[in-house]
Amino acid sequence: MGMNISVVGTGYLGVTHAACMAELGFNVIGVDIDPTKIKELSHGNLPFHEPGLPELLRKHVASGRLRFTTDYEEISSWADVHFIGVGTPQRADGHGADMRYVDAAVIELATRIRGKALIVGKSTVPVGAARRLRTLIEEHAHPDAEITLAWNPEFLREGFGVKDTMTPDRLVFGCEEPGSEALLRVIYSRALEAGTPVIITDFETAELVKIAANAFLATKISFINSFAEITETIGGDITVLADALGHDARIGRKFLNAGVGFGGGCLPKDIRALQARTSELGLTHTMGFLAEVDEINLRRRERVVRLAHVLLNEQLVGARVAVLGVSFKPDSDDVRDSPALDIAVRLFNAGADVLVYDPKGNQNAAERFPRLHYANDLAEAVAQADLVLLLTEWDEFKALVPADLEGLVAARRIIDGRNVLSRSQWKDAGWEIVGMGQHHPPLDGEL
Ligand code: UGA
Repeated sequence: MGMNISVVGTGYLGVTHAACMAELGFNVIGVDIDPTKIKELSHGNLPFHEPGLPELLRKHVASGRLRFTTDYEEISSWADVHFIGVGTPQRADGHGADMRYVDAAVIELATRIRGKALIVGKSTVPVGAARRLRTLIEEHAHPDAEITLAWNPEFLREGFGVKDTMTPDRLVFGCEEPGSEALLRVIYSRALEAGTPVIITDFETAELVKIAANAFLATKISFINSFAEITETIGGDITVLADALGHDARIGRKFLNAGVGFGGGCLPKDIRALQARTSELGLTHTMGFLAEVDEINLRRRERVVRLAHVLLNEQLVGARVAVLGVSFKPDSDDVRDSPALDIAVRLFNAGADVLVYDPKGNQNAAERFPRLHYANDLAEAVAQADLVLLLTEWDEFKALVPADLEGLVAARRIIDGRNVLSRSQWKDAGWEIVGMGQHHPPLDGEL
């Protein structure tokens, strides 16, 4: 195919995109400022958990179609197209997105590129960023360079990164400059030939599609969780409610699972960044509802902590608590803004002896919170537990039946933070089990 592609940033998004581009037949170099990561990746070692990605990475490192470097010089003159996939975390001093990594990447490229090149933004950015980056490129570009910019937001979910990249449900191209659409059509030709819908639009719309999608998903989760607060107060079954709502095709069943709420590196920071950005634009009230979405989400964590206190008769100090799951969702080792990890830490701070087990997330959690105890397997985690909390719905936990814990725990008490266990089955086996959205009389009048 002959096209050379660089991918700047080797996090979840960048590595997945780079490996998938190699799989599509392009020559790819991934760039990052972190030499340790680059060394690992160059050896075909993936520094995080993502199903299907290690195989692709190894395959294309071996084929020579995928390389990694810390050297911008190496990619600037080599690649025809540069994808920007660096992080835009929440700023330390507020709710806005920190654009320093995107800006730095664009400047590094703009100052070095000679001849023709296309820069394609993939990172999630505040609306208006692409137009500002356009100016930044003009300010820093060498006179011999002819750089065009396009915005191509990424919708991949962690845990499904390869699938979402190879067979996306839509493609969005923010293309305002000559030639950029044609190049993106070549890069994504396989998906386009398979009939993937493509939306060609301006920079602002492309940026907004991404942030609006995440804001909508977060709102959907908090919507059902706000109804969980109602059923917790007066009774009703939140799962049946969600099922019944989901039959309406206009609403849909997905993202209506009540639980401990959303976390991760995207939804929480994106709804905050959107509020910050709209305020900057003078639209102080427009995204006000997202503050409520955030609040509802955070109240879920408090609810679980209160439940733990109540189930343990307010004797949390010294109680042995098993936490099953610390990653923000299953099939991921990511613990960024993880509700499960936050709850584990709160219980620890309240004096409980917390033992955590996650099939993939222990190491990342231990780096952040070394004072929690980490178990190597489920049996070790629940040994002599006064209370078990299921907080991330890994298959291993969803498949649990009372007999699995029999003879291990000190007391038969469990909080099902994801509503994945059969309450009748556990009750019949003598367990006290409380789920999310479940009326629990001792908590009446509370959260
Ligand atoms: C999210 C979006 O789904 C992707 O489309 C987007 O590309 C990505 O952010 C991003 O901006 O990079 P991701 O963060 O991987 O993807 O996770 P999701 O699958 O969206 O789950 C987010 C959180 O919501 C998890 O903590 C999950 O447990 C929670 N959730 C999800 C619920 O609490 N209830 C549900 O019904 C669904």
